[in-house]
Amino acid sequence: MQLYIDTANINEIREAASWGILSGVTTNPSLMAKEKGADFQSTIQEIATLVDGPISAETVSLDAEGMVREGHDYAQWHPSVIVKVPSTTEGLKAVYRLAKDGIRTNVTLCFNANQALFAARAGAFIISPFVGRVDDIGVDGMSLVREIVQIYRQHDLKTMVLSASIRHPRHIIESALAGANIATCPFKVLEQSMKHPLTDIGIERFLADWKARQ
Ligand code: E4P
Repeated sequence: MQLYIDTANINEIREAASWGILSGVTTNPSLMAKEKGADFQSTIQEIATLVDGPISAETVSLDAEGMVREGHDYAQWHPSVIVKVPSTTEGLKAVYRLAKDGIRTNVTLCFNANQALFAARAGAFIISPFVGRVDDIGVDGMSLVREIVQIYRQHDLKTMVLSASIRHPRHIIESALAGANIATCPFKVLEQSMKHPLTDIGIERFLADWKARQ
């Protein structure tokens, strides 16, 4: 399973990229808005200098016409750009048209397996089931990932399954076990994932023994 970072923060992306684990980046309008004063296009282009892999940039139009227009615009910014569109019928139209024009899409805000099946049929490059937001309403978000993976495998659909809305390290492990192709994670969750108290205690003891040696 590949790891993407879910942020538009350049420092976080630079740091995680230096660990050698990043295969891509996802952004969304809320994440962009957190980077006060940052220009959308130049942020995406700067990210492309840091990570060699797909970078999702989200459309904000509600109609297919607008999404396709934005998609064509974003696709010119950098060859790594993946155009994010919502899981709506207008989104499907946009995916279908953009795919015909050779532009890759990430269908976002996916909350059921039908949305994922339809997105794949329309020609989506990535589907993004939102695990954490499903958990938030008291339903098991990971079962959505498992259903999508099973449907895609059974019907030989090539769209990649990206576990999104990841909230904690266990979500990453469960996404990998479920067969997701990608998990996109906030920086904080990536950091938490490498923390273990026994690792810290082990380092401390090794150093103490090393210092006390004769
Ligand atoms: C995915 O591409 C989305 O940007 C993201 O995972 C949404 O996560 P959230 O539910 O924490 O906002």
